[in-house]
Amino acid sequence: RFAHEPEQFVKLIHEVAGVEREKLSDVPYVAQLKNTSDFGQITVGNAQKWDSSEPAQGYFSYAGGDEIVQLAQSNQQLVRCHTLVWHNQLPARVRDSNFDNATLIRVLESHIRNVVGHYKGQCYSWDVVNEAISDDGLSYRSSIFLDTIGPAYIPIAFKAAAEADPDAKLYYNDFNIEFASAKTDKAVELAKMVQDYGAKIDGIGLQAHLIGGFVPSASALQSNLERFTSLGLEVAYTELDVRIPVPVSAADVAQQELDYANIVASCKNTARCVGITVWDYSDDHSWVPAIFTGYGSALPFDADKKPKSVYWAILNAW
Ligand code: XIL
Repeated sequence: RFAHEPEQFVKLIHEVAGVEREKLSDVPYVAQLKNTSDFGQITVGNAQKWDSSEPAQGYFSYAGGDEIVQLAQSNQQLVRCHTLVWHNQLPARVRDSNFDNATLIRVLESHIRNVVGHYKGQCYSWDVVNEAISDDGLSYRSSIFLDTIGPAYIPIAFKAAAEADPDAKLYYNDFNIEFASAKTDKAVELAKMVQDYGAKIDGIGLQAHLIGGFVPSASALQSNLERFTSLGLEVAYTELDVRIPVPVSAADVAQQELDYANIVASCKNTARCVGITVWDYSDDHSWVPAIFTGYGSALPFDADKKPKSVYWAILNAW
């Protein structure tokens, strides 16, 4: 069913992400993850990032990523592959290097060629470039890549990925581009730049690490998605969580249900929105509490992997 109807599959079934090797020892977690009526697709949470996949120059380590990919395959789930070029979880030997332009392009292309080549045919999509826009949205984000190569590193990365796996959908992925903002404008510009270079780009991933009560209406979200689809791209919510203050209040939970429902409706109503991925599915495995002090309860399942009210809000909104 899934292999033959990929569009419907990713559209109708909500998904799970942020899966990491350590979590696979949580038996109830894995058991629930295999429920394909909830989870049609898995994103590799950390194992494919540069520091994990190429820990030393030219030395590639795929065991962690392979384990997640095999789990998904054995369960007829699609895999979103994440991520090739990012300023975080980037080995210091690259991040702090003094490589000249030509050398860094070679290092970048070699990384992409190897990692994408290893997973060729196994990734529904690749997040080729992650978070390349500054927080204020006014410029590209300073990084070793931008500062050494200039913005051309972005289309260079897309070209290398397309060569290594012509069938994978190639995405630009970022946060704070879910609503009208300078950063969203810049993301539109980025996509056009990649297209102008003649490189293949298929989609925009909207991470959607959101705050309860600050999620726009479904129609506003949809208009925003359509800014990208009007460029001929597909879109997906790739790392959704809606965090609220903990301990939770009934009012915040009610608001969170509306927020999740608006996200789901916006995707459902946008022809080329292909799916929604939550950044892990149960609160005990969420990255939120460790990063956003005072916040939590951001996901549709609780720490015992029991569906919460937002789970039902998501289902009702589809
Ligand atoms: C996070 C992971 O969930 C954490 O385990 C890790 O320590 C840091 O990265 N944007 C992204 C993801 O694209 O890769 C990040 O994932 C969350 C923000």
